[in-house]
Amino acid sequence: MCTSISKHLEVKNDRLYFDGVDLLQVAEDYKTPVFIFSESKIRENARLISDVFKQEYGDCYIHYALKANSILSILRILKGEQLRCEVSSGGELYKALKAGFKPEDIVYNGPGKTLEELKYAVEVGIDCINVDSLYELNLLANLAEKLKTRIGVSIRISPEVSAPSIKTGLSKTKFGVEINQVVKMIRHALEKRHLHLKGVHMHIGSQVTDIASWSQASMVAVRLANQIYEDLGLELDHINMGGGLPEDYTETIIEKDKDVPSYLWGSISISEIARAVSKNFKDLKYNTKLYIEPGRKLVADTCLLLTKIVNFNERSFGEKWLIVDAGFNILPSMRILRWYYPVINISRINERHDSPFRIGGPLCDGEDVYHDVEGEELGNPRLPKYRLLPTNSQPGDVLAVLHTGAYGPEVTMNFNGMLRPAYLMILQNAVVKVIRRRETLNDLVSYEEV
Ligand SMILES: Cc1ncc(COP(=O)(O)O)c(C=O)c1O
Repeated sequence: MCTSISKHLEVKNDRLYFDGVDLLQVAEDYKTPVFIFSESKIRENARLISDVFKQEYGDCYIHYALKANSILSILRILKGEQLRCEVSSGGELYKALKAGFKPEDIVYNGPGKTLEELKYAVEVGIDCINVDSLYELNLLANLAEKLKTRIGVSIRISPEVSAPSIKTGLSKTKFGVEINQVVKMIRHALEKRHLHLKGVHMHIGSQVTDIASWSQASMVAVRLANQIYEDLGLELDHINMGGGLPEDYTETIIEKDKDVPSYLWGSISISEIARAVSKNFKDLKYNTKLYIEPGRKLVADTCLLLTKIVNFNERSFGEKWLIVDAGFNILPSMRILRWYYPVINISRINERHDSPFRIGGPLCDGEDVYHDVEGEELGNPRLPKYRLLPTNSQPGDVLAVLHTGAYGPEVTMNFNGMLRPAYLMILQNAVVKVIRRRETLNDLVSYEEV
């Protein structure tokens, strides 16, 4: 099964509607740039992922990874869909609790948790803290003893599985404990009265688009759980396979861009992933819970960014530039992670999107563009050189940037004195609600003292 924003988009009388809402009208009413989310799409994604995984493995618990997008309204919707959550800092823990998640439904990951953050998590009494090292395990044991309580822990492991795009499951990265150290570490943990050893955790990467990685990672987890059982007689409460469910970034209503790197094509379905994981779980010597921590897949295609063309430039050698009001202050991943988002001109929705344009953001920074500057210089561009838009695209037109719900809205910044945009939610009855207001000039100086 394939989830797509396209189903929630409809062209009527030359205008593009998102969940029944006229997007050109939204750009006029709320100004640009602006993020607009769909409540029904968020709910649809949550139900689909839960259903698919539970169908393959009944004892499965979906933990939404807050780092993908921690806007409270979105958290409340996902909580309402019976999801649990994963946090990666004290700040995210605070937001998760504020959104109504119960402590016993929260797991905590992070390679550099501070003592204050650990204390907060222990005092709140969350389900499980996933430790990244022996040092952290001992720190936590001492803390729990001092606080006269017992805390659930899992060990984050490096399964040595190399995912196709963002890799976090190798011991050459900063994450996790080497696999040959895990049994020794668990033996050590079992001696600590104030720790409740609950499981093992791994997160092999984000946008994991090949089935072999999922299969290999779950096989490593199952072999390890069986070894722990044989060596120590311990039955784990859960195995946490982390996040990484992939999104298809190439699915647009206008064009399929063939120059996009293959890891951005969500070519495998979540059913295939769920099947591969649960197939390996059948080899477990006892029953245990399966935790997963999807972020991107739950929210990426639930949001559009509307941005306006504010400038136009044509070079003597034929290149045409469109400068828009959304740059890496809002979508940093194009620059840092070389990410790709489909772009369509909603002011000319029915015109052919077949003319090549360079697109740039408003920042005074040469890398604030929608292509891969560094890659082109080195002769290895990882993003399309040009974006295809209608020939007459010009200042005043509104572009919609699709699939922007994950990570982009979470890593916005004020670089160049830019104001963070408004975030809107289309409620289920096509009513538009502001869920985060646009910043004002006063916000720019409100933390400073002179
Ligand atoms: C530990 C952990 N779990 C879950 C996720 C969510 O990953 P994704 O958004 O790719 O599903 C991440 C993201 O990097 C992570 O670090």
